[in-house]
Amino acid sequence: MRFFVDTADIAAIRELHELGMVDGVTTNPSLILKSGRNIAEVTREICELVEGPVSAEVVAADAEGMIREGKHLAEIAPNIAVKVPLTWDGLRACKALSDDGHMVNVTLCFTASQALLAAKAGATFISPFVGRLDDLGLDGMELIADIRTIYDNYGFETNVLAASIRSVNHIVECARIGADVITAPPAVIKAMASHVLTDKGLEQFNADWAKTGQKIGL
Ligand code: E4P
Repeated sequence: MRFFVDTADIAAIRELHELGMVDGVTTNPSLILKSGRNIAEVTREICELVEGPVSAEVVAADAEGMIREGKHLAEIAPNIAVKVPLTWDGLRACKALSDDGHMVNVTLCFTASQALLAAKAGATFISPFVGRLDDLGLDGMELIADIRTIYDNYGFETNVLAASIRSVNHIVECARIGADVITAPPAVIKAMASHVLTDKGLEQFNADWAKTGQKIGL
């Protein structure tokens, strides 16, 4: 399973990247706003740091505008994946940009039927939003499972990129289902390392070790 980091925070990306935890990065207009940076500058910096796909999102509403913006974003670096919304115009832009040799991430996917259209339009990645479906009392994970089944039934090569990941459990469930990629905020990826019994066990070992009066390597 590939891990993408859902942020435009360079320091957070660097910290996870040093540990080999970053296979790619996803950004969106809200994350660019949060970074307080210029989109071209921060995206270029991320692309210099990370070898894998870096998603940068278009903001035009019409296909022609999305294609124009997508080509502009793709000039930043060879590892840019152009992110387009799952609208009819977004699908038109997806087809044109992927035919032109660009990686395309189709975002804001909330149904299996949308995911099927994105695959047929040549998407490199489909981004179903798990957390936002859960927020409505729906089952985001069921959508991941449905898309996995449909893509496997027909051999679609579009990668299932589970997005809007809010918890460690989301990531484990995605791994169980067989999502190709998850994209999660840095804090959620770091939380994967934590367990109360790990902390408790370490506390006990440290206390017992102190009682031995020994030192290692000294
Ligand atoms: C990923 O591509 C999306 O931008 C992101 O995962 C959305 O997450 P959110 O629903 O927590 O904003």
